[in-house]
Amino acid sequence: MSNPSSLSQRVQNIKPSPTLAITARAKALKAAGEDIIGLGAGEPDFDTPDHIKEAAIAAIWAGDTKYTAVDGTPAVKAAVAEKFKRENGLEYSAAEISVNSGGKHTIYNAMMATLNPGDEVIIPTPYWVSYPDIVLLAGGTPVFVHTSIDTSFKMTPEALKAAITPKTKWLIFNSPSNPSGAAYTEAEIRALGAVLERHPQVHIFADDIYEHVIYDDFKFVTIAQAVPALKGRTLTMNGVAKAYAMTGWRIGYAGGDAKLIKAMAKVQSQSTSNPCSISQAATVAALTGPQDFLAERAAVFQERRDLVVGMLNDAEGLSCPTPEGAFYVYPSLAGCAGKKTPGGKRIDTDEDFVTYILEDFGVAAVHGAAFGLSPHFRVSYATSTEALTEACSRIQDACAKLT
Ligand SMILES: Cc1ncc(COP(=O)(O)O)c(C=O)c1O
Repeated sequence: MSNPSSLSQRVQNIKPSPTLAITARAKALKAAGEDIIGLGAGEPDFDTPDHIKEAAIAAIWAGDTKYTAVDGTPAVKAAVAEKFKRENGLEYSAAEISVNSGGKHTIYNAMMATLNPGDEVIIPTPYWVSYPDIVLLAGGTPVFVHTSIDTSFKMTPEALKAAITPKTKWLIFNSPSNPSGAAYTEAEIRALGAVLERHPQVHIFADDIYEHVIYDDFKFVTIAQAVPALKGRTLTMNGVAKAYAMTGWRIGYAGGDAKLIKAMAKVQSQSTSNPCSISQAATVAALTGPQDFLAERAAVFQERRDLVVGMLNDAEGLSCPTPEGAFYVYPSLAGCAGKKTPGGKRIDTDEDFVTYILEDFGVAAVHGAAFGLSPHFRVSYATSTEALTEACSRIQDACAKLT
């Protein structure tokens, strides 16, 4: 494959994940002996709880080491059904549940199972980096609805309405959001739901993966719960990665219409087959075991959020809203644009800014253009308070040195 033209058009249409790239770059610089603080990673710094690890070890000894049903064992589907009922008030039968190798895989299967060339998928900005590329891989067309810091990074019903066309197949709806941390209230979801109810061709992909990372008594609701009339055309997706600190175990899942679930299983049966049998057993333990540590961990994240928001707002030229959830902030660097670094480089783009703080101050963050909304950058605060304090004071220093 030395000739680039031997690569498919499909793969040439997409780019590698920029967040994984920045994490890899920060790791490489660190390995080379540089003093780097990584604020790029999208994973909790907590460990997977012991009772979950023990369930996985027990599964190995019990011989759960073989192929399973393609889209999940009866046990994991029952645990997912129980979770949806307990936490979201949603009833799904086993035939309406799909279990996959990570939430990313759930999205991939759903898009592969439904998109035809020309089908449009509405994606509000700033978006999680993988949405547009998965849509492109599946042959669809991403349609971006731009939000801004002035609407707290939330899509308005008017903006949604203006983006819907007869070709719209999906709206991808992520709350709390990666990268902004913005979460929609029940009233805001209902207002969007009123628009969606008038357009029966639109399906809703609800990415609830940050459901349990919420602050200040914010009440999380998922769209099928807030607007029951939309349940039949909503795929309610979640996963164990963020809530249970299980990013490496690779389990995501979704509840939705049985026909869609079956089509997703068909895609999965001809690609990855079942998700790891041991991870499925661990997921049963995660979803049915103790849940109290979720709020304890969210409280730790909330302290870090407050620290980071406070320190970044004290940095000259930055403006950092306070998010309702997830473990990211998405500050604007509009006040730094046009200024010069001590080395004489002009800050024209958010990529210039993140390059400056990485190369001159050893702080790795991700530029906003990667998430479709500039001039911003994303800081993940899923790291220790000590590292965050040091990183934010380096960013303050970097901003103060711009002229
Ligand atoms: C918004 C969002 N959805 C889905 C995922 C996928 O999670 P995973 O594939 O690790 O389950 C991520 C991970 O970063 C995310 O941020």
